[in-house]
Amino acid sequence: MITAGLRSTVPPPPLPPRSRERYAGALTVHTAHGERMRSHDGRELWLREIEPGDVAALRRCFTRLSPEEIRRRFLHAMSELPMPMAQRLCTIDPVRETALVLVDESVRPAEIRGVGRIYVDDAADSAEFSVLVEHAWARVGLGLLLMQRLVDDCRRRGLAELWGYVLLENRPMLELCRELGFTRRLMPDEPGTAQLTLRL
Ligand SMILES: CC(C)(COP(=O)(O)OP(=O)(O)OC[C@H]1O[C@@H](n2cnc3c(N)ncnc32)[C@H](O)[C@@H]1OP(=O)(O)O)[C@@H](O)C(=O)NCCC(=O)NCCS
Repeated sequence: MITAGLRSTVPPPPLPPRSRERYAGALTVHTAHGERMRSHDGRELWLREIEPGDVAALRRCFTRLSPEEIRRRFLHAMSELPMPMAQRLCTIDPVRETALVLVDESVRPAEIRGVGRIYVDDAADSAEFSVLVEHAWARVGLGLLLMQRLVDDCRRRGLAELWGYVLLENRPMLELCRELGFTRRLMPDEPGTAQLTLRL
């Protein structure tokens, strides 16, 4: 039996490093191809804007998502990413959208491990975000990195707000947004959903 006295003599285990120290703050090299990023555990990814040629990789990325991850990202169930939708997601109008991908070129064909995007609503002087990191690459700071880049992009565009709908069960995203300073508003018409907003 562990007594209270004994427990106090055992040093607590070291805390894991925060996400921002695991990847987002890792080595970055800027090139014409995008930004090459290397994590502290040696994994390398390219951060760049999405391209029309990413359709096949985006659809393969979708097949690696769990039903729960799909519902959290799209706010409803989907069994596949239809070709017209994938084409639409990879062909952006830069005036109204930004879409960033994290590409793993250590495999052939190269695979998309994360996507972050915004849609600008000029009338409201704001943009709506969405973000996704595939499970095998989660919890190393990539979601935070993508969201920080989207926040930077919205500031560059001179927008007043960045916002998105997040399911209340989606603790990872609620925590991530809390770290970035987003505020949460419940949606009376959409039970189980919150609107998260960051004043820029
Ligand atoms: C939400 C999501 C993008 C997070 O991506 P990620 O790369 O794993 O997140 P990060 O590693 O950058 O974590 C950043 C912070 O988010 C929070 N967080 C992330 N995963 C978490 C988890 N499983 N539990 C609790 N907090 C979590 C933590 O505060 C974390 O900081 P810390 O590690 O220093 O504690 C990813 O889980 C995902 O793609 N989910 C499915 C799609 C989705 O929910 N999208 C959001 C709605 S559009």
